[in-house]
Order: sequence, then structure tokens, then C-alpha cells
Amino acid sequence: MVIGIKNISSRVLEAKYAVRGPIVRRAQELQKHGREIVWCNIGNPQALKQKPLTYIRQTLSLVEYPDLLNDRHVDEIFPRDVIERARFITTHSKHGLGAYTVSPGFEFVRDAVSRFIAKRDGITASAEDIYLTDGASQGVQFVLSMLIANPNDGIMIPVPQYPLYSALISLLGGRQVNYFLDEGSDWQLSHAALEQSIKDAKERGVNIKALVVINPGNPTGAVLDHENIKMIIEFAREHGLSIIADEVYQENVYSDEKRFISFARVMHELGIEDVSLFSLHSASKGYLGECGHRAGYLEVRNIPSDVQDELLKLRSIGLCSNAVGQIITYLMVSPPEKGDESYELFTKERSGILSSLKRKAHMLSKGLNSIDGIECRTPSGAMYVFPKIDLPSGKTDSDYCSALLEATGICVVPGSGFGQLPGTWHFRATFLPPEGQIEHVVEKIGEFHQDYINA
Ligand SMILES: Cc1ncc(COP(=O)(O)O)c(C=O)c1O
Repeated sequence: MVIGIKNISSRVLEAKYAVRGPIVRRAQELQKHGREIVWCNIGNPQALKQKPLTYIRQTLSLVEYPDLLNDRHVDEIFPRDVIERARFITTHSKHGLGAYTVSPGFEFVRDAVSRFIAKRDGITASAEDIYLTDGASQGVQFVLSMLIANPNDGIMIPVPQYPLYSALISLLGGRQVNYFLDEGSDWQLSHAALEQSIKDAKERGVNIKALVVINPGNPTGAVLDHENIKMIIEFAREHGLSIIADEVYQENVYSDEKRFISFARVMHELGIEDVSLFSLHSASKGYLGECGHRAGYLEVRNIPSDVQDELLKLRSIGLCSNAVGQIITYLMVSPPEKGDESYELFTKERSGILSSLKRKAHMLSKGLNSIDGIECRTPSGAMYVFPKIDLPSGKTDSDYCSALLEATGICVVPGSGFGQLPGTWHFRATFLPPEGQIEHVVEKIGEFHQDYINA
């Protein structure tokens, strides 16, 4: 039998993932026919000319081809600390990177992740509570697979949200429960919005299991403060919910008044032990941008041991995360230190990337804001702007983004792919293109917008 579209799971048919949706497919088609495309649709830094960090690629080359470590010229090519690090990795990954690892991932990597969390937050962390994953996406998939037990089980997600969440909830047959972020107050999350959302969902008979928080926010760029995080944890506790804290943009904070604070830290400070916390981090974002290596981790807190066993079973069904990705996670959480030969170049590359992102965040949001009919908040973090657009009546944000692509070659994602307050229209654009291109993007969008409105 040849499988037909009617034979496949309706859950697959229903799942949507706009950041790689029809507009992006059209852009790929245009590119094949020679059109120059400016890819502002996805947070994929190295596809937009961000250079990988030297110490990461140097270490990877040595551990992928360890014979180099025995070459008499090795110390003429690689810094001493990189060679030492590579030797440490090859010793601790006994069977090399071509073998399956233990299911939760190399123990030395999980130990390094636990030290990273302990140092970042001033709290204790344990390798036993860490699962290395093929990017944060896979960690979210594990958690939602465990939590969604019945068709009536609901997961609260922000609107706008990163569509991984809505897509997985569809695939797993759960109920999506929206809570709205407030654009008027720079996309902050209010207690009233959470209460409203849970009240409505309960009236519809939904059994809410967990609350997803993306901090810093995608697509909003908002960074939560301590009070906000405390409020969310207390809300979760009051309503018996678990928390899924998506913290993949923790290094991407550009506002001098804001800083990243983890849910783990605040939960520890509050002494709360009766709310389960699933925290996610990734090597795809920050200043690494190693998206293609598919690396990240899930850390769990306040999880009983029998549930941990099931999580480990879930993790082991896929055997393990990719071994090279595990090494990238190791390098992410244990970068060169002062005194290391590669430290200077590492800090130069890191601050070069982060300061350029900060400049681009301001350039793009300021530029878009100056266009009549576009209103754009300056993002405090992450990699995106999410401007509100005025549209002629009868037009949607998808119409707008398709027309923008055809007219200018700029590929952005319609706000409807992330969710938005009914009656409002947005698009999401990354500020990852090279600085020289941002001005051109703003100019083109400005011209296009006026033509579109006046047509
Ligand atoms: C909020 C958020 N979470 C998770 C992911 C997925 O990241 P990863 O590449 O680690 O799977 C992304 C990717 O853009 C994201 O924006």
C-alpha cells in the first residue's frame, strides 16, 4: 500500500510550525531560481554569517580526529589549553564520539553542566538531574510527552510563543491553553493574565498540568525580572502546576538594566520544593549559535525518583543525544578561563558577537519603529523583533509577509505563527543578518510597507 494523506495521523496534519512554513518554502524556491533572499525567519546565527568560536572548533577537530593529538606539530597549531581539554575529553569519552553514550549523556559533561548551574545561580545542582539532549527542542519533547497523559490535559503557553510548544501539544494530543503577554508594557507577563487564562481553561474543563515560560522571550525579546519569576512560581504552586522554563536565550540580554535570572535560582531562594521545574538550555543560541550541532540539556528539580526513572526510560528509547553535540555542551558550560592561552581570543569573539547583536537589536527595532504604520518594541533579549503592523482591511499578516518576500526577498514569519491578540497583526524578524544588511532591510520594509498600505 502507498500511504495516503488520509491515512496519516490527524495530529501530524494539525501541527503547525510557521518558522519553517509555506513562506519559507516559497523563499527557498525563489532562491533556487536565483533570487537573493535575506533570511530573517529563523534564529540560525551561523547561516547568517556568524562565525563559530575558534576554541570550540579547534577542540572539536582534535576530538573528532584524536590522532592529531599525537602529531609532533600539534602544539604549533593549537593553544595549550585546547590540547589539554581535547585530551581530557578523549580520555573521558573512552569509546570515542562514534559510539553511543550512556542515555542521559557523558557523565563528565553532566558534571560540568551541574558546576555551570551551581556557579551561575549560587545553588547546588546534580549531574543526576541533567539530561543531555539534541537541542532544547528534544528536551521539551520529553517533558511534554510525560506530562500530556489525556486529551484533556492542558499546557499553558505564552501568546505570542515559540511554535515548538503549540506544535508538540498538537502532536501529543493535549490542549493548548494560552496566556497573553502585554505588548503595551513591553510584553511583560501579568498575574492577571495568568489568572484569566487558568479560569477560562478550567471553565472549559481543561486539566492544566504545566506552565511554559520562555525567558528571555521568543518572539518578544522580553526579559523577566525577579519579582515576575517569583510571581510565576507562586502561581504554579497555588494551582498545582509544573514549570517548563525555556532559558535558551540566557546569554542574549542586551539591556543594561536587565539581566537573566534563572527559575532554578528563584525557586531555590524561595525554598520551594513542591513545584516540579524543567529547565532547558541550548548551544544553538547565546554567542555559540551552534544550531546544526543539536546540543543542549534539560535540568529537572523537585521530581520524584520514579518519575525520573521514566524520564530516563524516555531518554533511553532514543539511545542518547548525539555525542558531538554533548561535547559542544561541555564546551559551552566550561569555556576558557583567565590564564588559558585561548582566553583572550575567546573573550574577544564572545563580546564581538554579543555587542554586534545588541547594536543590531537597536538598529532594527528603531528603524522599523520609524516607519509609519509599524510599531516595534526594542527587544531586551533573544534574537528577534516582533513589530505590530497596520494592514488594509481584508489583509492578513500572512498576505503581508508573502507580498514582502515577493517584493523584496526579505523572509519574515507572520505573527499568526506565534499567536497574537485577536485583531492585531505582527511579523517576526531576526536581527541576525550582518550589520551592513540591517539598514537595507529597514529601508526595503519601509518602502514596501507604504506601497502595500497605499495599493
Ligand atoms: C524559545 C526557543 N526554545 C527552543 C528552541 C530550540 O532550540 P534548539 O536548537 O536547542 O532545539 C528555540 C529555537 O529557536 C527557541 O527559540
